[in-house]
Amino acid sequence: MTPSPMRAAAEAFRRAKRAIAVTGAGISAESGIPTFRDAGGIWEKYPPEEYASIGNYLAAPEKVWAFWRELAAGLADCRPNPGHLALAKLEAMGLLEAIITQNVDNLHQEAGSRRVIEYHGNARYLICLDCAATEPLPKDSFPERPPDCPRCRHLMKPGVVMFGEMIPVQAMIEAEALARGCDLCLIVGTSAQVFPAAGLPEVAKRQGACVIEVNIEPTDFTFDIVDYFLQGPAGTILSQVTSEIKSMSPP
Ligand code: OAD
Repeated sequence: MTPSPMRAAAEAFRRAKRAIAVTGAGISAESGIPTFRDAGGIWEKYPPEEYASIGNYLAAPEKVWAFWRELAAGLADCRPNPGHLALAKLEAMGLLEAIITQNVDNLHQEAGSRRVIEYHGNARYLICLDCAATEPLPKDSFPERPPDCPRCRHLMKPGVVMFGEMIPVQAMIEAEALARGCDLCLIVGTSAQVFPAAGLPEVAKRQGACVIEVNIEPTDFTFDIVDYFLQGPAGTILSQVTSEIKSMSPP
């Protein structure tokens, strides 16, 4: 009898020697954080051509700061959900080597995941556009205006990667090496629209990795590179995957 996709995905995890996860906004949706491109998402209220690029920030820092300030404030009370916790559990069980996340919400770290590559930075700090000094952004006090660097007095920006900026070099090198070296790539809650992040599962697939996708709806990945598509909310599905793995005897 052919195993269900859930069972087959759990078996693939058990067999894998080097599994990685690539996550996007969908994994944090159940923590109350809106995604970017779904109906009612962030880019619907704040069009990316006005708010998302470094060019937008330099041209109108006050306007773009107000958007990122609202986003960072919205994250302050959010907590990891069962999806984040399941990935932390998989790492603790020795079944997940690392998470490459496009999210800037810090929730994987708060869930207990230890190796998290922040591909698009982190909204919990600021970075100086001149001297590159970083400053934490306290959860409970967000400056009203775009802040100046305490060291050199130049303009600071949120610690997130905006369109038109480079992916942090260390994150890019580490993510590429993980994608090339993995034998299982779990993709969770990303629309596969933003490169270079969306290229990482393709790199893994070309190296022969098994690709598992968790999403509430199919994406460009699903019909192209995915071996097992597990449809549903990440919290529910990832909890089921870990339970399924636990119910199996080791290979
Ligand atoms: P998107 O908003 O583009 O996609 C969110 C994905 O999550 C979609 O495929 C949804 O179907 C899926 N989804 C929604 N709720 C879900 C749930 N409960 N469980 C599982 N899946 C769910 O977000 P990203 O792909 O992360 O970049 O976007 C990538 C980048 O685009 C972001 O990092 C951001 C944005 O521009 C920057 O800001 C640099």
